[in-house]
Amino acid sequence: MPTKFDSTLPANKTTRVALLGFGTVGSSVAQLLRAQKFPGVELTHIYNRNIDRKRTGDTASKLSPSILWTEKIDDILNNPNIDVVIETIGGLSPMEQWLKTALTAGKHVVTANKQLIAYKGAALVKLARQHNAALVYNAAVAGGVPVIPAVLHGLQGDTVRRIAGILNGTCNFILSGMEAGEDYHDMLETAQAAGYAEADPSADVDGYDARAKLCILARTAMQIGLDPDEIPTATIKTVRLVDFHYARELNCTVRQIAQVSVDGTHVRARVGPTLVPNTSPIAWSHGTQNLVMTTGEFGGDVVFSGHGAGGNPTAVAVVSDLLAVAHGSASVSLPVKQRPVTGEVMAPWYLRFVVQDKPGIISAISGSLARVGANIDSILQRPGYPKDALPFVVTTEPCLTSTIEAAVAAIAKMPTMLEQPLCLQMLTDEDKSA
Ligand code: HSE
Repeated sequence: MPTKFDSTLPANKTTRVALLGFGTVGSSVAQLLRAQKFPGVELTHIYNRNIDRKRTGDTASKLSPSILWTEKIDDILNNPNIDVVIETIGGLSPMEQWLKTALTAGKHVVTANKQLIAYKGAALVKLARQHNAALVYNAAVAGGVPVIPAVLHGLQGDTVRRIAGILNGTCNFILSGMEAGEDYHDMLETAQAAGYAEADPSADVDGYDARAKLCILARTAMQIGLDPDEIPTATIKTVRLVDFHYARELNCTVRQIAQVSVDGTHVRARVGPTLVPNTSPIAWSHGTQNLVMTTGEFGGDVVFSGHGAGGNPTAVAVVSDLLAVAHGSASVSLPVKQRPVTGEVMAPWYLRFVVQDKPGIISAISGSLARVGANIDSILQRPGYPKDALPFVVTTEPCLTSTIEAAVAAIAKMPTMLEQPLCLQMLTDEDKSA
C-alpha cells in the first residue's frame, strides 16, 4: 500500500527552515525564498564552510539579516526549533550521517543529493518513516522537471515498464554543442563555469550522475531497487565530432541516454552515449535540457522535459518540495523490491573504427561480425579523412550486447586499429529494447 506522509506541522505554525550549502543550488534556493515570500515559511539558518566569503556575495547580502549563518552543523542538527533541513551540498559522507541525525530528531529533509538517495535511499526512507518525518528528493532527478511527483502522483495507476531519456544536463549541453560543431573541452569548461557540472566532472561525463538518477526513477516509477554499481555505464569522452558527422548520415544524433526496462524477471539498464534518431523527441533536447520518457503498460508513452541543471531550475524543485512538506502533502514511497540488473539488450549497433588504412580491413571486420552472427546493416566512409587515421563506421542489425561486445573485442586486436573501436547502441523509433 502506498503510504502518505502525515505532516505533524500545525497549519498555523511557521515552518522554520535551515539550508545546508550556499553554492549554485543553495544560493538560488535562498534567493527564491526571498523573492517569492511564501507565507508561513521562514529561512532561519544557513550552514556552509567559510561563511565570511559566502556572506559577502550579491545574493547573500540581500537576504534577511535575521538569518543565522553558521559553520557548525550541530547548530542546525541540535536545534529543536528547525522543522525542515534543505540539503544542497551533495556526496555520501558526511551527509548520510547528518541527514540521519536530522531525521532521527524528527526534522523533515528536502534534498537534491542523488548519489545519497540512489545508494542509501531505502534506509533513509525507513528512518524517516520511523520518526514520522518527510524525506523528499524531487530535485535529485532532472533538476527543474517535476518528474518524480509526476510519476508518483500521475502514473501510480499504470505499470511503468520502461524509462529512457536524458538525465544529465551537462552531457546534453556538451553533446548538443558538439552536434553544432563545438569542441568537447570548450563545452565542458562552459558548463563548469555556468555551474551545471558536478564538482568532479567525471560524475557527469562518465555517467555516474545519470546512473544515480536512473536508480531513483526506477525506485519511484517502477518500485524496483537497483544497485547503481551494477548498471553498465559508459563515458561520453570517447565520442568525437566525426561521430556526429556519421550519425547525421544515419539521420541520428548522439546523446547520453539512461534507460531501464523490465520484462518478465529481467531488469535491463544501461547509461552511456547512444545514437538517437532525429525523429525521436529525445534528439530535440538541447543545452541543459533533460527529457524523460516513460512507457506504461496501459497508458503508453509519456514525456517530461525541461531544464535539468542549473541553480534556478533545481531551486524551483527544492522549494516546491519544501512547500509540499510545509503543507503536509509530501508523499513518500511505495514498496520497493531490490532487483539484479543486466546490461544485455537486443539492439542495432554503431561501430566506429579509426585505422591505418590498407586493403582487407572491411573484410576482416565483417569476418569478426559474421563469426558471432552479427549482421551488417551499413558501411559508411566519408571521403577526405587522412588515410593514416581513417575513421569509418559499420552499423549492424539488432543483436545482443554480449554478441557485439565479443566481436568488438576481437576487432580491437587487429594491428591496423589505431584506437579502441567505439560501440554505441542505436535507439530506434519503436525502441522498447532497453
Ligand atoms: N550536474 C547535473 C547535470 C546537475 O549536469 O545534470 C545536477 O544533477
